[in-house]
Amino acid sequence: MNTMMKTTISNTGIWQGRHPDRQQCLQMLEDYHTPEHVIGHCKAVAAVGYTLGRALNERGFRFDLDLILAAGLLHDMARVEDMHWEAAAKYCEARGLRQEAAIIRVHMTYDPFNDLEHLDETDLICLADRTVLEDRYAGIDRRIDYIINKAIRQGHPEHKPHILRKKNETKVLIDSIEAFLGCTMDQLMERIDYENVEHVK
Ligand SMILES: [Fe+2]
Repeated sequence: MNTMMKTTISNTGIWQGRHPDRQQCLQMLEDYHTPEHVIGHCKAVAAVGYTLGRALNERGFRFDLDLILAAGLLHDMARVEDMHWEAAAKYCEARGLRQEAAIIRVHMTYDPFNDLEHLDETDLICLADRTVLEDRYAGIDRRIDYIINKAIRQGHPEHKPHILRKKNETKVLIDSIEAFLGCTMDQLMERIDYENVEHVK
């Protein structure tokens, strides 16, 4: 392993630094046998969360972008398992990645979002996850349309009002972020680089 890396894995497998970088997260996903399409989704969530965090940091917030990148890349690593959020959180905890684990554990059910001035990294990952469709940013409207259609296909049209209520709550947060940034989330994600977001402005 490159000794210049700020984060290293000790012999016991416990992280001695803070957060694994992209390459290290991708290695964990490979070791875990996470399917390629899930990895694509994880990259997209990481990229959207990172882009939001960086834009907010440029205007005074202090998000830990390394944490956002790692938590995004690892959040669905166990998605093909039952209670995948718990499995992935345990995997991270076992390696000393407590903050990543805490975000991953709640990402499926996180509710409600904090308001703008109290946003944290969990909010940004969960917001990113709810605006990504498979491996691309889609925005809240397309993502929710997809979820409603899926519920209908699966014989549960009665879920629609609840899904729309949740969408409206998420919209409140998106509206406040967009007003603060002076641009829309769609605009912010226009030129996103899913493979290299941390090195591209
Ligand atoms: Fe996800």
